[in-house]
Amino acid sequence: MRKPTLLSVVAATTAALTLAACSTGTATTGSSSSSSSSSSSSAKPGGAGGDVGVFTWWAAGSEKKGLDALEALFKQKYPNDHFVNLAVAGGAGSNAKAKLASDLANNQPPDSFQGHAGAELTDYIAKGQIEPVNGIVDELGGESVFPKDLLGRLTVKGNIYSVPSNIHRANVVWVNPAVTKKAGITAAPKDMASWIEDMKKLKNAGVNTPLTIGGTWTQVQLLETVLISDLGPEKYAGLFDGSTAWDSAEVKKAAADFKTLLTFTNTASDGDDWPAATDMVIDGKAAYNVMGDWAVAEFADKGKKDGTDYTYFPVPGTDGVFDFLADSFTLPKGAKNPEGTKDWLRLIGSPEGQKAFNLAKGSIPARTDVPASDFPPYQQSAMASFKKDKIVSSIAHGAAVNLAWLSDISTAVSKFYASKDDATLVKDLAAAAKKNQA
Ligand code: GAL
Repeated sequence: MRKPTLLSVVAATTAALTLAACSTGTATTGSSSSSSSSSSSSAKPGGAGGDVGVFTWWAAGSEKKGLDALEALFKQKYPNDHFVNLAVAGGAGSNAKAKLASDLANNQPPDSFQGHAGAELTDYIAKGQIEPVNGIVDELGGESVFPKDLLGRLTVKGNIYSVPSNIHRANVVWVNPAVTKKAGITAAPKDMASWIEDMKKLKNAGVNTPLTIGGTWTQVQLLETVLISDLGPEKYAGLFDGSTAWDSAEVKKAAADFKTLLTFTNTASDGDDWPAATDMVIDGKAAYNVMGDWAVAEFADKGKKDGTDYTYFPVPGTDGVFDFLADSFTLPKGAKNPEGTKDWLRLIGSPEGQKAFNLAKGSIPARTDVPASDFPPYQQSAMASFKKDKIVSSIAHGAAVNLAWLSDISTAVSKFYASKDDATLVKDLAAAAKKNQA
């Protein structure tokens, strides 16, 4: 069988993108090197000068280390520019996105902000809040260095609106093998049912928290991985273009499995962030955490050794599937220092920038010309998976659905966390799709 491309497998995301694009009178076209509306201009040696305010949610811990690595390199390459860190704490942008929305609405944009490749960016494009950056992407090597499919997702009506810094995988289970050993578990379960059996064994062996969760967005991410497991990649992708019903038997099964998984977890509040959930595994208080691969940076940060202190496997039932998301940086309309922003975009899109950032962040470079051998084992395995796996789009991290749809899904999941009523969860998810898909 021909290896499916990013866009062919995730027709869903493309559809979401097209939907969002169509609603603003634009259409997705695939990547283009059109420079008519591009932001190209040649770089000044040492940088354009002035403050460059960069908005992210990488405010603390291992995530901040990734941003710090970029900042250090930016200072080195563009000494005339002054990096201003505008990070707002809260994983997955849980607080940052609301602050960003009001800054943009008030015409107070940062010089650049973090967004997700895919449906999320179409929100900003639809509102006319970000400028095309085709010229910078061309300057960086365009299609010869960035996967064509990735550029396709960043492109609306011939224009590319952001520079990708990395690719993350969301369907990873992080494991403390010393804890699983207590229940005699030494291998990765083959499917969701066997994983649930393993959690029962852990409980019986006295492990109170087999699986950890954080606040709502981490639960949305867990749910998306269960959906991928129970639906398979094609039907999962169909959830976003209307070809898979959100109240289908498979979604009902996923909701029931999600409910079962939550019987094995710690208690969480809506706003709890991810590091506490991952740290419970690191500290031997729990066996498993489903988290994007930014988690590997947390293990590394705490001096833990891959293969002995921690192991990882795809969420059971999703082996061979890569649940994709990519951070991507923008040039907002009305940015005070657009030339400084372009220096920032040049840096994050360069081979050196991608190497420095991704080594610290746990993700893999968006560029294809950064050697895998420069990276530790986890990232090498993610690079290999990205090349051969079926690629699907993350719900929780802006690849599959836009901000409004994600907000409705999050409300449904938060409500479910309190009620544990899986029939209502399915109804709410179906209603959210109906409202946002048309
Ligand atoms: C994602 C983001 C990642 C990581 C994660 C946790 O949305 O793409 O880079 O920061 O949130 O905060």
